[in-house]
Amino acid sequence: MSNHALKNAADALRQARCAMAFTGAGISVESGIPPFRGPGGVWSRYDPDMFEKGYFKRHPEEVWPLLKEIFFDMIGRAKPNPAHLALAELEDAGKLVGIVTQNIDSLHQAAGSRTVHEYHGSTRRMQCLSCRTYFESSAIPLDTLPPPCPVCGGLLKPDFVFFGEGIPTDVHLAAIELAAQADVCLVIGTGGEVAPAGRIPHVVKNHGGTIIEINLRDTAYTYNTTDYFLEGKAGVRTPELVRAVLA
Ligand code: APR
Repeated sequence: MSNHALKNAADALRQARCAMAFTGAGISVESGIPPFRGPGGVWSRYDPDMFEKGYFKRHPEEVWPLLKEIFFDMIGRAKPNPAHLALAELEDAGKLVGIVTQNIDSLHQAAGSRTVHEYHGSTRRMQCLSCRTYFESSAIPLDTLPPPCPVCGGLLKPDFVFFGEGIPTDVHLAAIELAAQADVCLVIGTGGEVAPAGRIPHVVKNHGGTIIEINLRDTAYTYNTTDYFLEGKAGVRTPELVRAVLA
């Protein structure tokens, strides 16, 4: 990666009136959580159609063991990496207004970030599809699958967005509002392949904002939306950028 791109990106970020970050699975890979797409991706090993809400409701005994293995066991062991920590440092320095993340791993909050819009929800809670009661996931044992609702015995669903589900209105509006105000957006570890989340950088761009992209490889954003492309691992490039901004 050229130092030219790093310097220009750092200058743009330092001078930003309202900078935000838009993150995806790639920012958590160095925390031990596999991405969904690309080499070693979850969808190269599991059929995403099983994580469609209708299929889950029809076959919970088949899907819940996969939910436990892919999301709860893996995420339970994960810790924030230098990319998450760098964004929290940028927010503490008053240079980042907030994060819109597609990730459900809560690693931004674990790193100390305060304004985090979880566009696809998180694994922290579950909801009963019968009595609609919410539960902290930590209070629900996963030795019996599907775990029965403690109140009515109904089917519990993790409180993150399955395929075929809408985005919670409040978090969608908060994310769009931030993107409409942002004049710089860091796009880290996402190929933007899933709508409507993937539109967030376009909202910033369409309002005249600057896009700084950090990714291992080029994406659908790189050649028509990105202004500065910092190629490499999020856990290396993000702290490098933040150091250049705060130096
Ligand atoms: N550093 C930076 N980028 C990385 C790294 C890394 N160490 N490892 C992978 N990447 C990049 C890949 O190049 C790819 O662009 O992260 C991206 C991962 O892409 P996806 O797995 O598609 O993740 P994401 O874009 O977040 O997926 C969006 O799809 O399945 C749904 O709901 C799920 O939130 C998810 C959404």
